[in-house]
Amino acid sequence: MFLGLDLGTSAVKALLVDADGMAVTSQSAPLCVSRPHRGWSEQDPESWWQAADLAVRQIRKTHPRELAAVAAIGLSGQMHGLTALDQAMRPLRPAILWNDTRSAPQAHRLDQSHAEFRSIGGNAVMPGFTAPKSVWMAENESRLFAATSMILVPKDYLRLRMTGETVSEMSDAAGTLWLDVAARDWSDTLLALCGLDRANMPRLVEGNAVSGQLRDEIARDWGIDGRPVVAGGGGDNAAAAVGLGTVTPGDSFLSLGTSGVVFTVTDRFAPAAGSGAHAFCHALPDTWHQMGVILAASDCVSWLCEVTGTDVATLMQDLATTDLAATDLMFHPYLSGERTPHNDADARGGFFGLRRDHGRGEMTRAVLQGVAFAIADATDVLSGAGGAPTRLLATGGGARNETWLSYIAAVAGIPIDLPADGDFGAALGAARLAMMAAGADAGDICHKPATRLTIEPDPRLAETLGDARTRWSQLYQLMKG
Ligand code: XUL
Repeated sequence: MFLGLDLGTSAVKALLVDADGMAVTSQSAPLCVSRPHRGWSEQDPESWWQAADLAVRQIRKTHPRELAAVAAIGLSGQMHGLTALDQAMRPLRPAILWNDTRSAPQAHRLDQSHAEFRSIGGNAVMPGFTAPKSVWMAENESRLFAATSMILVPKDYLRLRMTGETVSEMSDAAGTLWLDVAARDWSDTLLALCGLDRANMPRLVEGNAVSGQLRDEIARDWGIDGRPVVAGGGGDNAAAAVGLGTVTPGDSFLSLGTSGVVFTVTDRFAPAAGSGAHAFCHALPDTWHQMGVILAASDCVSWLCEVTGTDVATLMQDLATTDLAATDLMFHPYLSGERTPHNDADARGGFFGLRRDHGRGEMTRAVLQGVAFAIADATDVLSGAGGAPTRLLATGGGARNETWLSYIAAVAGIPIDLPADGDFGAALGAARLAMMAAGADAGDICHKPATRLTIEPDPRLAETLGDARTRWSQLYQLMKG
């Protein structure tokens, strides 16, 4: 048996898989995000451990025998969050998360003055990444920064609690912007530019290698026989890629979760920082990936539910009563600023073209189309960066919405495959990395899921949406000015 633990933004998910990599059971425990100021997004690192512990204890209640037989554990998690620890490895402040934009001025300054971040780190400096967050801390909480002995991203803090080891792996380490992404090693140059050095960084392993062993007392509490090894694991996107079998150069997936991600595997470090594309290490050795990230995808639908006081099912019923190809209302999805392609923490969302007869159905349609346009911007960026996706495997909560996928397929001009039912998220990828750490071969377990349905680009929809996208892009440029 193998356990995958995915530390998301809204929940920790624990997934138990058998020796064939098939899901046995899963449990989740919720997490809260605190937003004490505009643009801030924080979590208490202790809550990550509490939620992980709760999720595994729930599995113990229903599957004690299977849990007892766990031989290896894999970790995945939300990327980029800054967890600053003192000498005793205690958090000095709440973690600053991936979707926190407070460090936009620091990010801009690092990006303008140090080309090394783009050349060595492979990415434009964006406020989502860990490096500018640390500079924000140095400038605004200098006492705490001076007391910082170690910086970990979220799932690596969970690993510390579980194993006592400070270890990271290449995919999440790349998201700090302190990694020499080509060399798969910390960059002394990039660390020094932030007033840090290697002593402040965890040891590095590959995602499918052993990083440590579960602490004896935790293994006993969870009812596990022996002390399972803990694999390096992966950042949530790289781990999801492993779960989807997106591991060979050219393979791509589209994730419609809180954020929206287009991910393409590359056989080498292929930076294209000027376009807003991310270039990171994959969770498997000698493999890299490019990624376009939009900060609000399904989050835009959640927001519309909140402000209209309804739920997704009702919005979709309203949508079904509208002309699905109409484009008379426009929506910019930049509710949390934007990464790819604009790298603009100040970008804002908005409806444009509202009429008295527009209702929830038309607003829902505009939201789905607006996110589809933003995803198409991301696929265009990857195409320009050499990692052109030729088909996309859809994953995440939003991938259940076929209308939404038909908009994306049409506007991006790329067929989208929908997997047959099953659990193919980051937790499965984490469990697969655990299997590899215990000796399994990637080629034997990183299968792609069977395809339930392929959504081909509809040429008529492509034409109407293409025109609308041009107006939508022009409107962003005007609003920006
Ligand atoms: C990737 C990113 C998000 C988070 C969400 O760069 O910031 O996808 O990992 O969990």
